[in-house]
Amino acid sequence: MIKIDQKTDEDGVIMMSVHSEELKLHHEHAENVKSVSDREITILAIESSCDETAAAVVRNGREVLSNIISSQIALHTVYGGVVPEIASRKHIEKINYCVTAALSEAGKTLKDMDAIAVTYGPGLVGALLVGVSEAKALSFATGIPLIGVHHIEGHISANFIENRDLEPPFVCLVVSGGHSHLVVVKDYGEYEIIGQTRDDAAGEAFDKVARAIGLGYPGGPKIDLAARDGNPQAIQFPHARIDDAQYDFSFSGLKSAVLNYINQSRMQGQEINKNDLAASFQKAVVDVLVEHSMRAVKEYGYDKLAIAGGVASNSALRAAMQHACAEQGVKFYRPSPVLCTDNAAMIGTAGYYEYLKGVRSGLDLNAVPNLPLGDRERRFHVM
Ligand code: KG4
Ligand code: ZN
Repeated sequence: MIKIDQKTDEDGVIMMSVHSEELKLHHEHAENVKSVSDREITILAIESSCDETAAAVVRNGREVLSNIISSQIALHTVYGGVVPEIASRKHIEKINYCVTAALSEAGKTLKDMDAIAVTYGPGLVGALLVGVSEAKALSFATGIPLIGVHHIEGHISANFIENRDLEPPFVCLVVSGGHSHLVVVKDYGEYEIIGQTRDDAAGEAFDKVARAIGLGYPGGPKIDLAARDGNPQAIQFPHARIDDAQYDFSFSGLKSAVLNYINQSRMQGQEINKNDLAASFQKAVVDVLVEHSMRAVKEYGYDKLAIAGGVASNSALRAAMQHACAEQGVKFYRPSPVLCTDNAAMIGTAGYYEYLKGVRSGLDLNAVPNLPLGDRERRFHVM
């Protein structure tokens, strides 16, 4: 069971410490890992790509010794979305606290770290820069190697934390506020993107629809909640399919259909049932995500499917995917909801597998807001 200790600062920032005895130690697995690297590897991980400032200490890739998340969501809610300047400023205020708390909760000091892993893209440039600068400064001051991690690689790797048996290859659906990717994880750090969104990301569609029906930001969790009291069959929304790219997604047509429905209802003086609307919209998104993922697993011949990213915490998506996988005899993996949304433990896990491959970043590591997945920058060298 995952336990979350939570407190809110006077400025509205929520500080969370995520623990679980199960996450902490798994001797059996630690033994497996040692056979790969022949000694324990402990990594300090930092994440600041959007509106969460986070730091974690991860041992041997899958043991989370500490996982500190400082969420600014409440500060951005009043603006209906993330305000980049506010995000950067809050990251600067919170990052040292998060790093110190992560080390002390893990019972470690910087000297115990084998590497410092940090998200360097994609994300908001000003937000990314805070984590990257922190990690570079710590690396420069201590001589501890630096490893730049791709944010999506982090989301995918969140699946390794609680699922000790999960090893590549498998198919992973990555659905977050900025991405909707269907990825074949061929090996650790080796990805083939087989489908992606043509327009809005899944989380973006949730956020925009929630705003349109007055549920507020962030929309995903609010729609998830409202949909529990709604009828998913109440309104038939379109399920976009793209003929020449069967694994690609498109959510902007669905979003427009929802907006049209709202406008028409208003013009006709009809009251909108928000719960039915939320449930029907959510079903349209979930149906497409499940259909594409199951087709990919089947056609690529894999027997494992994982989901990742903020939208992977959606209860309807988790239930529908679980059901579809059980029917097709596919093993289904998903992180706990708190590990689906942004956190640094997932960055530590991804960083560990990069570390084993000998990947190191130079002190010229920079934030790359639109960093493509699987595209190693020249500043990396594999030892
Ligand atoms: O992965 P994440 O924390 O940040 C990005 O990398 O984008 O994802 C945030 C996104 C937001 O769009 C949020 O509305 C969505 O994930 N989200 C959800 C749920 N929880 C978060 N969407 C649907 N259902 C949820 N329960
Ligand atoms: Zn994310």
